[in-house]
Amino acid sequence: MTYAGNLASIEDLPGKFPGRYVFVKADIADASAIEKILLDNKIDAICHLAAESHVDRSIEAPDDFIQTNIVGTFRLLELARRHKDRIGRFHHVSTDEVFGSLGPEGQFREDTPYHPNSPYSASKAASDHLVRAYHHTYGLPVTLSNCSNNYGPYQFPEKLIPLMIVNALEGKSLPIYGDGKNVRDWLYVRDHCRALWTILKKGRPGETYNIGGGSERDNLQVVDSLCAILDRIVPRKDGGHAQFKAFVTDRPGHDRRYAIDFMKLECELEWGPEESFETGLEKTVKWYLDHSEWVRQVQSGEYRDWMRRQYQ
Ligand code: DAU
Repeated sequence: MTYAGNLASIEDLPGKFPGRYVFVKADIADASAIEKILLDNKIDAICHLAAESHVDRSIEAPDDFIQTNIVGTFRLLELARRHKDRIGRFHHVSTDEVFGSLGPEGQFREDTPYHPNSPYSASKAASDHLVRAYHHTYGLPVTLSNCSNNYGPYQFPEKLIPLMIVNALEGKSLPIYGDGKNVRDWLYVRDHCRALWTILKKGRPGETYNIGGGSERDNLQVVDSLCAILDRIVPRKDGGHAQFKAFVTDRPGHDRRYAIDFMKLECELEWGPEESFETGLEKTVKWYLDHSEWVRQVQSGEYRDWMRRQYQ
C-alpha cells in the first residue's frame, strides 16, 4: 500500500474467494507484523511480489528501493527460515533488468550473468542473491522468476503503456525518452500470473525461470500502436492521437534492449504466453477506457507532484 497501491484494485476479491482471502496492511520489513500473519493464518507458501518497481523513481530517490526490495526481502526470508516447518515454498518475483542491457542480438537466459544498471535493478539483483543464498545455505525451498515488462489492467499510470493511454485520452503530451528506439519484451499481466502459479505448483526448488511475452517492440512502435487503437475506438476531431508524441530527455543510464528466452519454463513446466501484443494491447486500452473512475482515483496528489517534477 505505497503510492501505487490501491484497495479499489482488489475490491472484488473477498466476494470471489469467500473465506479464502484476507487483506492485512503491513510493511514487509516489519518482522513482527509479518510473523503475526504467518501465525494467524494457514500459510504454506509465500509468493513475494512486494517491491518498489519504477526505474525513474529509483534514479531520483533510491532509499525506498534499498529498504523495501533488499531489507524487506531479507526480513521475509528470515521469517520463512524460522517457520521452515510450515512454509513449503518461497517464490521470489524478480525482473529481467538484473541482467543489464542487450545489444541488437541475443536474449537473456537463466544463466546470463547479472549486470544491473539502475538503483532499482541493483536492489532486485541483491534480493535475488539473498533468496538463492537462503536455498544454498539453509535449504529454504525457494524458486525465482525474472520477467519482462508487464502491461494490462490495473497498472499504475507511471509505466509506459498506461501513462500513454491516460495522457492520450486527456490530450496531454506523450513523453518518449531519447530516440524511442529502446526495446522491451512485453508480457500481458495474466500470462505472467499464469506463469507464477505454474512455477509455484511445479517449479523445482532452487531454480530460476525466465518469463517473457515473446513480443519485442521498441517504444515508438508501442506508442504508435496505442495511438492507432485509440484513433479507431475514440477518434479525435482535431487529428490523430500521435500528434501528442514528444521526444524528451533520455533516462540516465537507459538500458537499450531487453529480450527473454523462456524456453526453460516452456519445456520444463509447459507454460507459454497466450496473449499476442496486439490482442493484449487492445484489451488494455479498452480496460482503461472502461475504468475512468479507477484512473481518477489513482492519480493522487503525490503522483501528480511526481509527474509535474518530471515533465515541467
Ligand atoms: O523489464 C521489467 C521491468 O519493466 C520491471 O522490472 C520494472 O519494474 C518495470 O517498471 C519495467 O521497467 P521499464 O523501465 O522498462 O518500464 P517503463 O514503463 O518505465 O518504461 C518502458 C520503456 O519506455 C523504457 O524504455 C522507458 C520508456 N519510457 C517510459 C516512460 C514512463 C518513455 O519513453 N517515456 C515514459 O514516459
